[in-house]
Amino acid sequence: MIRYKLSPSILAADFNKLGDQIKSVEKAGADYLHVDVMDGSFVPSISFGMPVIRSIRSSSRLFFDVHLMIVNPERYIKTFSQCGADGITFHLEAAKDVMRTISLIRDCGKRAGIAISPETPVSALDDEVIEAVDMVLIMTVRPGFGGQTYLEECTEKIAEIRKRADSIKPDLDVEVDGGINKETIKTVLKAGANVIVMGSSVFSGNAADNTKYYKKLLDDRNGKA
Ligand code: DX5
Ligand code: ZN
Repeated sequence: MIRYKLSPSILAADFNKLGDQIKSVEKAGADYLHVDVMDGSFVPSISFGMPVIRSIRSSSRLFFDVHLMIVNPERYIKTFSQCGADGITFHLEAAKDVMRTISLIRDCGKRAGIAISPETPVSALDDEVIEAVDMVLIMTVRPGFGGQTYLEECTEKIAEIRKRADSIKPDLDVEVDGGINKETIKTVLKAGANVIVMGSSVFSGNAADNTKYYKKLLDDRNGKA
């Protein structure tokens, strides 16, 4: 059965008080913590890497939903697993051998996800790939920066992957990332997403209150109102 989950993205957190911010979203009921790793090559920006993840791992029990926006992700699967990732999502566009990369994640005992950027069609994902992963991440902005506007043209991609999953892998998680707010969350839920990444919508303002608001919205769908 599909469960609806909230994954606040720490890219939008105040890094001067990162530990406290993570504690507040954890306490407020976040399901996952979305951790964006950028290499300045696959995407223009550079975010943070292993030492930061290792450090926050020691004070949080949240599921670390690590989103690798890096070239040749296969090089770093083991390292990010050891740093504390619980799930690792890499980009189809960035991997040399997609099935091998999924196997590497599995060999580390982690949940595997594959991401596609807005310009990549859902048809670029073979059935074999969808069957092998736990989650498909549909980027709803160009990867690389927080605070961008939701790209409407991605809505039909969410519906398309959910439809394909219904026939070959009904329990597939469909995650969305980028520009999700009070309005666009309705659009993505209706289209079939169930794991919702939110950066600015959670961390600008009161992160605990924002987490509670969105968590309630998702829990209502989980039937736990
Ligand atoms: C963008 C990142 C996102 C980002 C989303 O490349 O993958 O996770 O933090 O930020 P918002 O929710 O502000 O669009
Ligand atoms: Zn992300």
